[in-house]
Amino acid sequence: MHSNQDPFREAREQSGVQITEFNGENIPFVLRLKELRKVVKDWQNFSSDHPFKVVPHSEEKLRSMRQIPIEMDPPDHTDFRALVEPFFKRPTETEYMLDMAEMVHSMVADALSKGEMDAVYEFALPLQCRALARLLHVPESESEVWKGWGLHALTEGSGLEEYTAEQFAKAEKKPGDDFFSMLNGVDFRGRKLTFEEKQGIANVTFAGGKDTVINVVSSIIVYMSEHPEALVFLRQDEKYIMTACEEFVRYVSPLTAISRTCPHAANVGEHEIPGGSRVGLCWPSANRDGSVFKNPDEVVLDRVPNPHIGFGYGIHNCLGAPQARLIIRSLLKALRDQVKRIEMVSFEPRVEKEESYTRQVGYDRVLVKLK
Ligand code: HEM
Repeated sequence: MHSNQDPFREAREQSGVQITEFNGENIPFVLRLKELRKVVKDWQNFSSDHPFKVVPHSEEKLRSMRQIPIEMDPPDHTDFRALVEPFFKRPTETEYMLDMAEMVHSMVADALSKGEMDAVYEFALPLQCRALARLLHVPESESEVWKGWGLHALTEGSGLEEYTAEQFAKAEKKPGDDFFSMLNGVDFRGRKLTFEEKQGIANVTFAGGKDTVINVVSSIIVYMSEHPEALVFLRQDEKYIMTACEEFVRYVSPLTAISRTCPHAANVGEHEIPGGSRVGLCWPSANRDGSVFKNPDEVVLDRVPNPHIGFGYGIHNCLGAPQARLIIRSLLKALRDQVKRIEMVSFEPRVEKEESYTRQVGYDRVLVKLK
């Protein structure tokens, strides 16, 4: 799994920064864990208040509005985040956890009865979509629409904006206790949210949690096929479910980078960043920082402590982390309890190719048999 997963090592060890080109713009990627944390905490000098500029490759063509709260600084970020946080914390409720465990258990049982399957399109994708229906509290039938969009929610022609606009309109006519009705009805600083604000919140909710979750799920399945002893290890102690979950997020780090813009000249270590320029926060590099993690290129299922920042760090840390963690832990438990081994038939890695790095982020296809 992930033979070329740390393309940033040399630059990280030598200077801590790597210049990465996106659409003619040179963006220094921050590579060391300690420096990255420092940058993320300093939102005044490394700002998120730049619509369409937070994801390094620009998304202007794929959406028409600011994503909220990710493309904001305090105090707007604080208030918008507080508004949606209760919804994103629902995966920590017992009933929700039991429901997810049951869903994943039945999906693994189905996979066992199937023989050969593609763990990406026939398992990870439906798993992520069905789980999202639970998070948004909408009928599970909606997940069929999202499955049709493929591994990313935000692609040319996916129709995400039109879809979410329709859902807000439907919820307006017939309010319920779903995500769209909540956003229609909520009071924000003594007023209702604008259409654009609601769309911006829905957009990142769909886009942020799709390929990231799918890539971790498919990577776990590939890893288990290559390391049958890992399933035996997980059976030894319940606490390994938690530690293994964190370790897979660290090791896979499916999101390569998110950026910040410097309103004024700033420094990253010894590097000077001119005012108005962007820097990239390179989560996978920080998560392989050998000065923090012993044997960083190995999956250590009982790694403790594990101060990875795969879900980000500081005020913007991932709102979907409780959902992602619950999906991963439920999957690890189901595999541990129901599966003896996973037989690999064939796989195709999903590779991100940029001018200055090539990085495997997950898989396009994973044909396996669960036994
Ligand atoms: C393994 C899966 C995931 C990974 C690795 C991941 C990674 C991240 C990272 C690194 C950030 C920080 C961005 C920044 O600092 O600017 C972030 C933020 C965010 N993520 Fe995730 N994410 C995952 C799953 C999800 C899911 C399932 C959802 C939603 C259902 C989601 C929604 C969000 C949102 C809304 C933010 C913005 C939070 C804010 O600005 O305050 N993510 N995620």
